[in-house]
Amino acid sequence: MERLQKIIQRAGIASRRKAEDMITEGRVSVNGKIITELGSKANPGDDIRVDGEPIEIENKVYYVMNKPKNVVSTLDDPKGRPAIVDYFHIKQRVFPVGRLDFDTSGVLLLTNDGDFAHHMTHPKFEMEKEYHVKLTGLLRKDESKPIEYGLNTPDTTYQPATVSHVRYDKSKTHTYLDIVITEGQYHQIKRMFSEIGHEVVRLKRKRFGVVTIDGLSEGQYRRMKPHEVKQMWNLAKNGR
Ligand code: URA
Repeated sequence: MERLQKIIQRAGIASRRKAEDMITEGRVSVNGKIITELGSKANPGDDIRVDGEPIEIENKVYYVMNKPKNVVSTLDDPKGRPAIVDYFHIKQRVFPVGRLDFDTSGVLLLTNDGDFAHHMTHPKFEMEKEYHVKLTGLLRKDESKPIEYGLNTPDTTYQPATVSHVRYDKSKTHTYLDIVITEGQYHQIKRMFSEIGHEVVRLKRKRFGVVTIDGLSEGQYRRMKPHEVKQMWNLAKNGR
């Protein structure tokens, strides 16, 4: 059950405020009965009409894309750089769930479900995002401890992250590692490592909650499976 004004807003008929006016003015009916009370709830499957016209609710859709490097994760770019819309060809209007930097590749979720996007991105739901990182220099074990305990910088505090699979390249100039974070602050991974003296030279998101890009090459996308959507909701609702 959902508030009537929210359902009307979601159907793109009016803003929440205008939808409330429509209800109090007696213009809205649910299953043949005029509803004027503001707290009223309905199911999106009910016969909801405004001025006698049935409203159409957009089906919710969920996609995962393997975002290529050097593509903006927004739908278009004022600077004219390649954008994910150049790769994405579907009828529904969708928007990205959070952002990835221009030079970051990997898992990008897209949906038309604002509530889902909120639960996936708000730090209080602690959704895990796992990245594969290449850093300048050789990272010693003790160096990453501040990141693992929860790094404090003059600008912000980061929630504790999990660092694993630390290894060096053959020429011993760079470090590879995996890191799991549970929030998505601006340039978070680049800033955290920069704070401890290492620059990120390559960044790929391998996993968002239970969703991976396994089987998708760069630029490809697929519908998320219903069980994946359900699992994501459960993870976000339970927190950790
Ligand atoms: N952290 C970053 O620094 N960049 C991203 O794109 C994602 C996480």
